[in-house]
Amino acid sequence: MATILEDYIAKHPGSAQRYVEASKLFPGGVTHDTRYAQPFPLYMTHGEGPRKWDVDGNEYVDYVSGHGALLLGHSNPAIAAAVARQISRGTHLGASTDEEIRWANAIRALIPSIEKLRFHSSGTEATLMAMRLARAYTGKDKIIKLQDHFHGWHDYAMAGSDQSTPGIPEANTGTMVVVPSGDLGAVEDVIKRDPNIAAIILEPTGAHFGQLPFDTANYLKGLRDLTAQNGVILIFDEVVTGFRVSPGGSQVRFGVSPDLTTMAKIVAGGLPGGAVGGKADIIDMIAHRNDPDWDNHHRVYHPGTFNGNPLSAVAGATALEMIASEPINANADAMAARLKSGLNDVLGRLEIPGHAHGIASIIHVVLADCDCDRETCTMSHAKIAATNGSAATTAMKRGLQNRGVDIMSRECFLVSSTHTEKEIDHTISAFQEAMTAVRADGLI
Ligand SMILES: Cc1ncc(COP(=O)(O)O)c(C=O)c1O
Repeated sequence: MATILEDYIAKHPGSAQRYVEASKLFPGGVTHDTRYAQPFPLYMTHGEGPRKWDVDGNEYVDYVSGHGALLLGHSNPAIAAAVARQISRGTHLGASTDEEIRWANAIRALIPSIEKLRFHSSGTEATLMAMRLARAYTGKDKIIKLQDHFHGWHDYAMAGSDQSTPGIPEANTGTMVVVPSGDLGAVEDVIKRDPNIAAIILEPTGAHFGQLPFDTANYLKGLRDLTAQNGVILIFDEVVTGFRVSPGGSQVRFGVSPDLTTMAKIVAGGLPGGAVGGKADIIDMIAHRNDPDWDNHHRVYHPGTFNGNPLSAVAGATALEMIASEPINANADAMAARLKSGLNDVLGRLEIPGHAHGIASIIHVVLADCDCDRETCTMSHAKIAATNGSAATTAMKRGLQNRGVDIMSRECFLVSSTHTEKEIDHTISAFQEAMTAVRADGLI
């Protein structure tokens, strides 16, 4: 019988061929680090709803979901129509538009803590601006960040990352204070000890959109109280969780209001886009006051060629208005619940150490046993990280790809509102076959 790797090579000759050329063009042969794969990544041609196709004609049930952007699936007809209409009216009018007002209102309708906002082109820009606003508003320099939490790739966000960080001046990381994730006492110690703390930023369901979770409800509430008492700005990075873990993101699901929220992915309906929003007096650090001293010396400067661009605006507004008025999240959550229970059943049936956990439409698989409630994993972060780095986890991903299922990173299923029982049940069967193949390869 062919190994998983042999099967992967045999099924994807077109991808292998393209990777040879791409390797001459791009470092590592890819255009995003998480797409890097050996012996080669897969090349896709198109997607529709919950499915996508590769250059060899293989069909996949897709759980990468546009790195989390596609809660409404691929090529949603209403979004496609809105974008097509806007393309014929102009992709960049170099001016303010009705579309950006509609987009902002759609965001505010879902996230009550957002009084005002500014648009960006990505989540990285949004977290960079959130940190700068917090520093400007408080007149303090330092930002607390949680270990392993991901906020994009700018110099400040890379502090406390589980990735390498050459090229980042120590002067920048020196303004970041990294604390263990989920430890309220550690945050309190820093705030009490250091009078120069402007803000704390975090992924509100834990690092890597809940791969390394904490006791969310209590931790978020504790952080809210602590920061409010000490004049520290609380920033929720809802780039992935926004509009997914509830229509109003983590903050509405857990009933905790941050001062600032960063958004990207779903916010732009599958097109590039990001935003930072929150308390008006903080966001208004960007506002002109028609006072030369303020405008030239104190105001936070914010240009950006594609800020609020009309294509992203109509895609984002259309997506968010659907999320507000249709059972988009309920559908995705129900399919994710079916999938999570199916994945756990397979692992139990095959007697393979492992479990699937997660909330709403986000599922993480860990190939190690745990007696958690399958929503919030209680295993140590070190153990989860070690298990996710194993050869068995890589083989699981590849084994799924060989059977027409593509997952986010190596262990995450991001479910959309277009996944139906048909796709979920196909996925559960593919998972059973893939895990049987991982065992046959001697990796479990
Ligand atoms: C929580 C979080 N913040 C920020 C970012 C950066 O967003 P972008 O890739 O749009 O720059 C990401 C990207 O995955 C993310 O997951």
